[in-house]
Amino acid sequence: MEKTIEQIKEEAIKELEYASDPESIKAISVRYLGRKGAVTRYLRNVSNLPKEIRPKAGKKANETKKTLETLFKKTLKQLEAAADEADRRLDVSLPGRLVPQGSLHPITQITHQISNIFIRLGFDVAEGPEVETDYYNFEALNIPKNHPARDMQDTFYISKNIVLRTHTSPTQPRIMEKQKPPVRIISPGKVYRCDSDLTHTPMFHQVEGLLVDENVSFGDLKGILTTFVHQMFDPETSLRFRPSFFPFTEPSAEVDIRCVICKGDGCRVCSKTGWLEVLGSGMVHPAVFENVGYDTTRYSGFAFGMGVERIAMLKYGIDDIRKYFQNDLRFLRQF
Ligand code: FA5
Ligand code: MG
Repeated sequence: MEKTIEQIKEEAIKELEYASDPESIKAISVRYLGRKGAVTRYLRNVSNLPKEIRPKAGKKANETKKTLETLFKKTLKQLEAAADEADRRLDVSLPGRLVPQGSLHPITQITHQISNIFIRLGFDVAEGPEVETDYYNFEALNIPKNHPARDMQDTFYISKNIVLRTHTSPTQPRIMEKQKPPVRIISPGKVYRCDSDLTHTPMFHQVEGLLVDENVSFGDLKGILTTFVHQMFDPETSLRFRPSFFPFTEPSAEVDIRCVICKGDGCRVCSKTGWLEVLGSGMVHPAVFENVGYDTTRYSGFAFGMGVERIAMLKYGIDDIRKYFQNDLRFLRQF
């Protein structure tokens, strides 16, 4: 059955009640009063009605058309006025809200500072994998299976031959296998060990250094590392080279820096010695050169591996290494 003009009018009014923006009012208006709109179609159909009711129906349809036109116009005006009012309430002169700004973790900042000093000294930056094979982490570095030196670097085993690397030194054979001398690289990254106390964490960062060429001497090693310490801290900073042992260097030395917490008097951070160890170093062992096919009669070189957290502790006077990884914003915001 055809809809009566009253039904059409009711539906239009109901739709209008749900309209909340000028666009939908315009759409409704087209649906009812447009060229193919419901009211327009009804009006066009009036001539087909029985003669007796034709005049009355036509009159009613025309009235409905006018009523709806007025209603649509009125509602449209109201909605537009409301939108204007909302715009006026937006105060563009208010100061903007600050977007919270993050910063680099202190360990990342120190890693960048260390790298920049070596880049200025002519070193390139290389990276190695954190999940490493037993071969590169130990064997290629002259640490055979069951060697007691493995004890100092107990780590997390993924499987029998895959470990979380215990130091950045495996990047040494990885680089040398790919590149002929001269080599002059540093390699920063994360390393892992079963360690935890005031100066040890199970995950920490090292920066490895390797320089291989003809006629490289222990004097070059001392010169580069002393320059580094003086640039990283200040030219007055005391450091000492202490004889040590690593299977992949011969001779080997560890470098200590005067403890900044107690100024050398002895405290819990430096275990009452007045010094804090920051790196291991030495002349590359011929066995390591042989493993990568370097001519040991022609080339010599030195290597070092420094602890980034230790350097950061000395630089900022931090008395507990674990603070770097507790994610306490009161601590981190100071850097
Ligand atoms: C090494 O890891 C050798 N690979 C260093 C090396 C490289 C020697 C090249 C010779 C040639 P060592 O275990 O001493 O050495 O560690 C080096 C530095 O890492 C230490 O001096 C110390 O600063 C830091 N370190 C070691 N263990 C931890 C730890 N658990 N937490 C934080 N820092 C550590
Ligand atoms: Mg050591």
